[in-house]
Amino acid sequence: MHEKLPIQAVPPLIYGTAWKKDKTAELVEKAILCGFRGVDTACQPKHYYEAGVGQALLRLKEHGIFRDNLFLQTKFTPLSGQDSANIPFDPAASLDDQVRQSFACSQKNLGVETVDSLVLHSPLRSHEQTMQVWRAMEDLYKAGVVRMLGISNCYDLDVFKSIYDEAKVKPSVLQNRFYSETGYDQKLREWSGERGVCYQSFWTLTANPQILSHPLVRSLSVIKGVTEAQLFFRFLTHLKITPLIGSCSEKHTKEDLAIFDFTLSNAEIASIETLILSR
Ligand SMILES: NC(=O)c1ccc[n+]([C@@H]2O[C@H](COP(=O)([O-])OP(=O)(O)OC[C@H]3O[C@@H](n4cnc5c(N)ncnc54)[C@H](OP(=O)(O)O)[C@@H]3O)[C@@H](O)[C@H]2O)c1
Repeated sequence: MHEKLPIQAVPPLIYGTAWKKDKTAELVEKAILCGFRGVDTACQPKHYYEAGVGQALLRLKEHGIFRDNLFLQTKFTPLSGQDSANIPFDPAASLDDQVRQSFACSQKNLGVETVDSLVLHSPLRSHEQTMQVWRAMEDLYKAGVVRMLGISNCYDLDVFKSIYDEAKVKPSVLQNRFYSETGYDQKLREWSGERGVCYQSFWTLTANPQILSHPLVRSLSVIKGVTEAQLFFRFLTHLKITPLIGSCSEKHTKEDLAIFDFTLSNAEIASIETLILSR
């Protein structure tokens, strides 16, 4: 039986593996060799080649980097998020069985017994269905093969609260698109942050060109001698947000990891924060 992972075990940056197809193994290996220690994937062949992450784990052993040196996160993707031609579980099975089959597929793809974090890719149509899936995820946690649970694409504080309140194993991760349409999840981040939930962002650069080109971000990045992307990622880590970064460029990957070479003052953080506060 593995122990529950403390939230501090989530690295401050996580390498995202979506849309990398047959380049997944090579890119994950490079990202880890550059210094990433967390990997995000999903049992969702439509967008992720999860077995490629498993291949990277094998190759990394040759470099002296072992599974236990890494934070591995995968997801259970409900039927609505799967490609009907390539579903990694029996769509006619009960929701509990779908979770078990999907997780067994992740174990096989990754070549591991235990994952550090299992994330529900999105809430289901009804709260009852979501909780049925959550209970099956809790069983995996109780069996010691998953060390924390999380939820993704959950933008409604009431929905998150109702899952959190009913859960026996509370969500440790909330993984959401970080953008203005949801007010940057300000209330959700506050509420979940008070409960020690790790907020992970995606679409962080893609959805925020207006922030990256903002004169404030531009001038601060010149002062710090970094790129606007580095400045924004560093700002987010100061807010205790863990960005998922799926760069395919070695230059960007190194720049992303170098954000810990500089810090932002409280006044600088507060000034950038005005750009993401609801108006
Ligand atoms: N839960 C969900 O539903 C969900 C949805 C989407 C994504 N995700 C996860 O989040 C991960 C990240 O996805 P994402 O959509 O946020 O985008 P991303 O894959 O991180 O890439 C967004 C863009 O950022 C660029 N980039 C990265 N670092 C940069 C830097 N330092 N300077 C300039 N550009 C930089 C990349 O270009 P280069 O390749 O040229 O660097 C890319 O064009 C995914 O791989 C996946 O694991 C989860």
